[in-house]
Amino acid sequence: MCRHRLPPARPSAMILVVAAALLAAVPIGTGCGTPAANYPAQLVFPPRSDRLVLQLPMQPPPKENTAGRLDEEIAALDAYGGRTVEPRSLAETARNALDQFLTETFGTPAEPRTISATLKLTREHLLEGGRLYKTKCFDCHNLTGDGRGAKSGQFVVPFPRDYRQGAFKFVTSGAGLKPRRADLLRTIHNGLPGTAMPPFSLLQPGERDLLAGYVMFLSIRGQIEFEGLCAIAEGRSFQPAERLAALVREWEAADAAPPLPSPPDDGDYESPTYHEAVRRGYQLFTAKRENSCISCHEDFGRKPVLRYEVWGTVAKPANFTETTLKGGKEPHDVYARIRFGIAPVGMPAHPPSQYTEREVWDLVRFVTSIPYPVRLPPDVRDAIYPNPE
Ligand code: HEC
Ligand code: HEC
Repeated sequence: MCRHRLPPARPSAMILVVAAALLAAVPIGTGCGTPAANYPAQLVFPPRSDRLVLQLPMQPPPKENTAGRLDEEIAALDAYGGRTVEPRSLAETARNALDQFLTETFGTPAEPRTISATLKLTREHLLEGGRLYKTKCFDCHNLTGDGRGAKSGQFVVPFPRDYRQGAFKFVTSGAGLKPRRADLLRTIHNGLPGTAMPPFSLLQPGERDLLAGYVMFLSIRGQIEFEGLCAIAEGRSFQPAERLAALVREWEAADAAPPLPSPPDDGDYESPTYHEAVRRGYQLFTAKRENSCISCHEDFGRKPVLRYEVWGTVAKPANFTETTLKGGKEPHDVYARIRFGIAPVGMPAHPPSQYTEREVWDLVRFVTSIPYPVRLPPDVRDAIYPNPE
C-alpha cells in the first residue's frame, strides 16, 4: 500500500506518505565558479531515518507549514489522526538488506553506479551531475534528495521537494505520471516562481541536463527505499530489483508521452471570441458540483482551502488573482495542470470524459486572465472584483 499513488481529491482518503527526521549535516563547502570537488570517498547515502507517514489525517490541515519545523509537523500528524512510523523501529535485518541493495545498486555519492543508459543515468553522467548538484542544489534538496538541506532547505516554506517518493507536481506527461525530462529541465531553468526554488537559467543546457538526470537518480533510489521500508512496516514482501526495472520504465514512458496540444486561436485579449472563452471558463470554474475548481481555489484562490500533500506537508491552492504560477503561466502550462491535475497535492485530473479540449482551453483562458481585469468581460470582472477601488 505504500507505493506512491494518486491521492484522491478528498482529504479524508487514506494516503500513505513519507516524512522525515533530520539527516546529519554533511560538511561540504563549495564556492561558486570553482570546479566542484567530488564528494568524500567514504561518504555514503545514509539510510532513511525520517518518519514514514502511513496514513494522513482525515481532517484538512489546521494551518500552513512552519519554516524550520518540517519534522516536528510531520510527527504531529499522529495527533491529528494520521499514522507515522520511524524506520528505526522496523526489523533491523530487513532494513539492512534493503540498505545493502541500495548501496550495491546505486553506489555512493562519490561513486554512483549506472542505472539506465536510456535515461542517461550512467556513472559518467551521474558523477558530473552529482558535482553540479552539490554546488547548486544540495543546500536545499540535501544529499539523498530528502529536501532537508541543513543550510537553507529546512528554513523555507514551501519546503524543497523531497524527491524520495518519486512524486512531482509540475508534469506535462499525464495524470499521476513521472515528469518528462523536459519537465525537470523547465523547473530547473525557470525555477518555481513564488517559492524558494530559484531559476538556473544561466547554466549551460548540458549542465541542466546533467542535473535533471541526477534528480531522477536520487528520486528512483529514494522511491525504492521508501517503498521497501513501507513493505517492511506492513509485513509485505518487496522485490527491489523488479521494482527498479519498473520505475525505470515509468520514467521512460513519461518521456515517450505524446506532446501537449497547441492552444486554439481565440483572437486577441479584447476580441469577442476571447471574451466568450473566458466567460465559459468562468462558468466551469464556479460550477456548483463536487470538486469544482472553486471548492479548493475558493474566492478565486484568495481563500485557499489547505490540503495535505503526499509528503505529509501542506499545500495551498493557487491564488489566481496574483500573477505568479509556480508551474508557469503560459497557456500550455496551465493546460497541463488542469488536464493532468497535480497528483501529489490531490488536485484532480480532468480527463476528456469530463472536459473536452475546448473546455480545458476555456478554463485556461479564464485562469490566465484573472489577474488582468482588462481581459475579462464586464460581467465576469464584476464577479471577481466586486469592489473596484
Ligand atoms: C533555495 C532552495 C532551493 C534550491 C537551491 C534548489 N531548490 Fe529545487 N525546490 C525548492 C523548493 C522550495 C521546491 C518546492 C516548491 C513547491 O513545492 O512548491 C523545489 C522543487 C524542486 C523540484 C520539483 C518540481 C516538481 O515538479 O515537483 C525539482 C525537480 C527541483 N526543485 C530541482 C532543483 C535542482 C536540480 C536544484 C539545483 C540546480 C534545485 N532544485 C535547487 C527549493 C530549492
Ligand atoms: C481538491 C482541490 C483542488 C481542486 C478541485 C482544484 N485544484 Fe487546482 N490546485 C490545488 C492545489 C492544492 C494547488 C497548489 C499546488 C502547489 O502549488 O503546491 C493547485 C494548483 C493549481 C494550479 C497551478 C498553480 C501553479 O502554481 O502553477 C492551477 C493552474 C490550478 N490549480 C487550476 C485549477 C483548476 C482550473 C481547477 C478546476 C478545473 C482546479 N485547479 C481544481 C487544489 C485543487
